[in-house]
Amino acid sequence: MFLQIPKLLNEQQLAMIGATLHSDAAHWFDGRVTAGHQGALVKNNEQLDEASATAHKLGDVIIAQLERNPLFISAVLPCKVYPPMFNRYGEGMHFGNHVDGAIRQSPRTGQKLRTDLSATIFLAAPDSYEGGELVVESDYGVQRARLCAGDMVIYRSTSRHRVSPVTRGHRLASVLWIQSLIRGDLEREQLFELDRTIQQLTQSGADPESLVRLAGHYHSLLRLWTEI
Ligand code: NI
Repeated sequence: MFLQIPKLLNEQQLAMIGATLHSDAAHWFDGRVTAGHQGALVKNNEQLDEASATAHKLGDVIIAQLERNPLFISAVLPCKVYPPMFNRYGEGMHFGNHVDGAIRQSPRTGQKLRTDLSATIFLAAPDSYEGGELVVESDYGVQRARLCAGDMVIYRSTSRHRVSPVTRGHRLASVLWIQSLIRGDLEREQLFELDRTIQQLTQSGADPESLVRLAGHYHSLLRLWTEI
């Protein structure tokens, strides 16, 4: 999976988040503090203190948007979402090739989460910086993202990925992880495909009786594969 969700955040939310990240309320720390051993060797960025009121306030805006985004719900089938982190890459900063750790513990609740999917939400206008591309090595080859502010990209947490060096300006982004109700990538991706097909058939005015049967299959598979 390498899924883009455009306009997760609206203009108003982006303006508020941007103003906060550029204000004195944002204290930036060396990003290596939250990296594992492998990550610390290749990580060179700055991030907000996860326990700060600023990170909580901005993170809550993102969580609320995720909860009302039908594409996110359908593709991810979320069980737990890690509180969004905020990072900044200045000139010369980058994050070398790595994989995300399998388990993360929320600093807010202490709750542990299995990372099935990783997500990046771009927060700076693409013309305000150079470089800073997210490069993901997926099953379908190398995928690249350098999206508009407010857009999100989601990929399997098992994928090797990196952020290429920023050569001008500041790249601002939020990253988060999701534990899905469906542990297996293939099963989750099949359900997403089936849901999309049902939506398309519904829009094209397909026979209602057949649609109900198809929806029944979707929910049977969801029951079969869900882990709560
Ligand atoms: Ni990562």
